Amino acid sequence: MTVLFSSILTSRSLGNFSFNVINKACACLKSSTVFRDSMETASDLTYIEVKDDNPLDLFREWQQEAKNCATIMPATFCLATVSKEGKVSARNLILRRLDEDGFVMMTDRRSRKSQNLSEVPSAAMCFLWAYKNDTGEHVARQVRIEGPVAEMKKEDYQELYDSEPLPCKIRSHICHQGKKVEWDELKASHDRVMQSVVDGKTDLPMPDHFVAYKLEPLTMEFYGQRDHLIADRVSFAKDSKTGAWNHHHLAA
Ligand SMILES: Cc1cc2nc3c(=O)[nH]c(=O)nc-3n(C[C@H](O)[C@H](O)[C@H](O)COP(=O)(O)O)c2cc1C
Repeated sequence: MTVLFSSILTSRSLGNFSFNVINKACACLKSSTVFRDSMETASDLTYIEVKDDNPLDLFREWQQEAKNCATIMPATFCLATVSKEGKVSARNLILRRLDEDGFVMMTDRRSRKSQNLSEVPSAAMCFLWAYKNDTGEHVARQVRIEGPVAEMKKEDYQELYDSEPLPCKIRSHICHQGKKVEWDELKASHDRVMQSVVDGKTDLPMPDHFVAYKLEPLTMEFYGQRDHLIADRVSFAKDSKTGAWNHHHLAA
């Protein structure tokens, strides 16, 4: 708990007495660590502490904290893509894996997003984690990620398909994502496939239209806020020549 509270979102001193002192002094009744922190660094500003230059580490840390605090669907993000005509669209997806070189997502190759990505192979992801931490504070965190997107080789995501639950495998066999459908026909199709599985006639191999993409992050921006405090933002950019990450704080 101590680490959770003090490591990432701390308040930085403005030197003046503030609302935050009162709130934190109340919090000290629950935790001496919180009190010590409030006395040393009280302010109305959230502060995002960057412990090392790799933003993926901070991403993992924030996502883990969201999971620890029982956040609903901490792997969900909004993906924005654009068509060649410049029409933007956005939808929620699940982050399937985080590799050292990027964020892995899966979908139907026949979908609108896949069409967009084939025309403009670049996208923006946006994660939102909003929860109450173990000291009762409301935490709101957002991570924005932008970069090129590439289709992955089948062998690099086969295991992701294999580990899908049965209903998801059935869906990927019977649903042509984005196509008009009659519910009764879909139900009949579902029942046929389910019966084949029960009869041992198919183990639902990965269909050709099942595709995974990896977004390589070139910029990542973290936004963090606790309770009523003024939020902090940290922007990371990857140097295209050296591959090194630089970062700086941004006004909220
Ligand atoms: C929480 C949540 C998670 C989702 N995860 C995925 C996913 O991982 N892959 C996917 O193709 N669609 C997923 N969807 C459905 C998409 O939001 C979207 O409806 C679908 O992919 C079609 O988008 P498109 O027509 O823009 O291509 C998810 C929806 C929700 C609400």
